[in-house]
Amino acid sequence: MIKAVRGTRDLLPPETALWNFVEAAVRDVFHAYNFHEIRTPIFEETQLFARAVGEETDVVSKEMYTFYVADDPQLVLAQAWLLKHRSNYTTIDRLGGYAFKTAFAAHMQNGVEVVVVGPSLNYFDLPTLRAEWNSSAPEAEQEPKLVVVVPPEEEQYARIHTKENDIELRVVEWPDKYEPPQSLTLRPENTAGVVRAYIEHKLWDRGLSKLYYIGPQFRRERPQKGRYRQFYQIGAEVIGPASAGSESPARDAEILELLATLLDRLGIQNWTLELNSVGCRSDRATYNEALRKALEPVKDKMCTDCQRRAVTNPLRVFDCKVPADQPIIETLPRISQFLDEPCRKHFEQVQEILKSVGVEFQLNDRLVRGLDYYTRTAFEFTHGALGAQNAILGGGRYDGLSESLGGPSAPGIGFAIGEDRLVLALKESAEAVQRKPDVYIAPLGAGMDREAARLARELRRHDVIADLGDETFRLKKSFETATKMGARYILIVGENEVKANAFALKNLESGQQVSVPRAELAKTIQSAK
Ligand code: HAM
Repeated sequence: MIKAVRGTRDLLPPETALWNFVEAAVRDVFHAYNFHEIRTPIFEETQLFARAVGEETDVVSKEMYTFYVADDPQLVLAQAWLLKHRSNYTTIDRLGGYAFKTAFAAHMQNGVEVVVVGPSLNYFDLPTLRAEWNSSAPEAEQEPKLVVVVPPEEEQYARIHTKENDIELRVVEWPDKYEPPQSLTLRPENTAGVVRAYIEHKLWDRGLSKLYYIGPQFRRERPQKGRYRQFYQIGAEVIGPASAGSESPARDAEILELLATLLDRLGIQNWTLELNSVGCRSDRATYNEALRKALEPVKDKMCTDCQRRAVTNPLRVFDCKVPADQPIIETLPRISQFLDEPCRKHFEQVQEILKSVGVEFQLNDRLVRGLDYYTRTAFEFTHGALGAQNAILGGGRYDGLSESLGGPSAPGIGFAIGEDRLVLALKESAEAVQRKPDVYIAPLGAGMDREAARLARELRRHDVIADLGDETFRLKKSFETATKMGARYILIVGENEVKANAFALKNLESGQQVSVPRAELAKTIQSAK
């Protein structure tokens, strides 16, 4: 049996109703704050994540799903060769089992050629190929002629070897449309993609962009409750030129207030907002220096990852989960001691606005977030009921990210909610948001499927949620089916009802049954909601 890949899962009804409820609620909130949706591709060039998120982060160094995509160069060249020379041959067979990936037996009027196609052939195999061919095709009258086909850049090298082995060499140009290999990655997060899109589409012309997204992300982490390899994020980014207000602490506070509103509206209780400032680029340089110095005498006692991080990117030591390293990490200097005056002020202003709008927070100067692009405000919302994976969302400011991807200065701030974790926190109320059918339409007897389908179409046009039975069902089975799916009403469609153009409508909760004229059915069903 083929199962879903480890770390991925199917979302089934009734749980999907909860996902839809969450997504509808967040869309409402985003619209109230004047955010607009952006959809970026699921995969991007690997380079994007390496540069935006950082080579030394766990996400990039350990967790990405990266794959190489290339047209097979040998086949591309073979096709170019075939196009050019097909008319010279009577038949052409692809040869299997040889040391060469692409070799053809090309049958001509007088004899056979074995054509081996480059690039990057192992030329030392050429004599083996000749021997193999000779032994496997004893019926051939003539020893086949060996021909090697290579692209122009390999001609010189190939000529030496073909000459040595008395083999004919033909040079074939690459076709125009040949694409070189590409390294692609399934997005592990969406900020990099959004900033790439911001630069690519010159969104700065629009002033401040307030964008939101909902979609899958991919990380090869160890799966457990609340941690998956395909998971879903609901995120938002506010980005634009500083002149449009993108750098203002008011933006940070607005984002945090939005999140508090959103969690409250969804009925998530007992969340905690943890807040820190990770400073700007210059603070980071002095802080990294201080960390490096503090780590120097102790790093040998730490895990191998930390030993490397201590040299390459000391901030990432804070991502370490190894228990034995934690006492050492506790003693390291904190970023809060290294903030310059503008950063300190910015952070204070964010806190002041939050206090004035009544959003509670806790300062946590160990919170540095696991991605390299953060500057200044960094935050996480945690939720007690989630256990080990208690971060329900995270985010922060990333003022230099656009420049590091080759764009103009474009300060920004954003967040991403782990939708899987949000739904886990909401799970108890699944029953309440599940939309049940208003009515189950039960055709009774031959020829009634047609009538029932007509009625269903009429009712659905009036936004009645209707489900449809089958004329072969006995009445008892129809009642059982309707009750099982939680329908409020059952509507009987029999020959007498059709003749009278009035139908028996039974309320499955109260047991009350009335006969309702066709024209009043939708109204009667809707009015009792
Ligand atoms: P992040 O902290 O890496 O930030 O992820 C945000 C949230 O995604 C986490 O708090 C968690 O709820 C959820 N999450 C992460 N990994 C998994 C997983 N394997 N399974 C289930 N849920 C997971 C970012 O991704 C940033 N792009 C957020 C951001 C936007 N910063 C600025 N703008």
